[in-house]
Amino acid sequence: MKLRMLTLTALLIGVSAVASASELKNLKVLRDDKAKVEKGMKLLSKGLGVKCEACHVKGKFDSDDVQAKHAARTFLETTVSKADADRSEALKGLLGALQLAKPKAENQVWEGIGEFARR
Ligand code: HEC
Repeated sequence: MKLRMLTLTALLIGVSAVASASELKNLKVLRDDKAKVEKGMKLLSKGLGVKCEACHVKGKFDSDDVQAKHAARTFLETTVSKADADRSEALKGLLGALQLAKPKAENQVWEGIGEFARR
């Protein structure tokens, strides 16, 4: 009986470890929620009018090797879940790093920000 309990406990610990494992490896601002991160990233990119590669090394989303990703992280740090943020000022900084005069659809940028939660 005792052994069965132990086995069951070990099994449950194993299952929860697998359930909480994520493929997202380098989040410093955002909560680790793959579906929300991807949805937000899509909206953010569309709203800005850029491809993922404006901030990411193709196929290596965890890499920090694209310079604009750092400015984007600061932008997320300033705006995600922060109602009192000066959003237009924050956006200006990001646009500068991306060498964009203006976003393609600003409302979509904020929709994307709305998908994210902080870690
Ligand atoms: C304007 C810059 C920017 C664009 C464009 C962008 N991302 Fe991101 N992305 C970031 C930043 C910044 C982070 C890191 C967030 C953090 O540190 O919490 C990130 C993180 C991610 C991660 C998590 C990677 C990991 O393992 O840590 C994924 C996945 C991702 N982005 C997917 C995408 C996809 C897909 C697109 C295109 C549809 C995209 N991103 C476009 C800035 C961008």
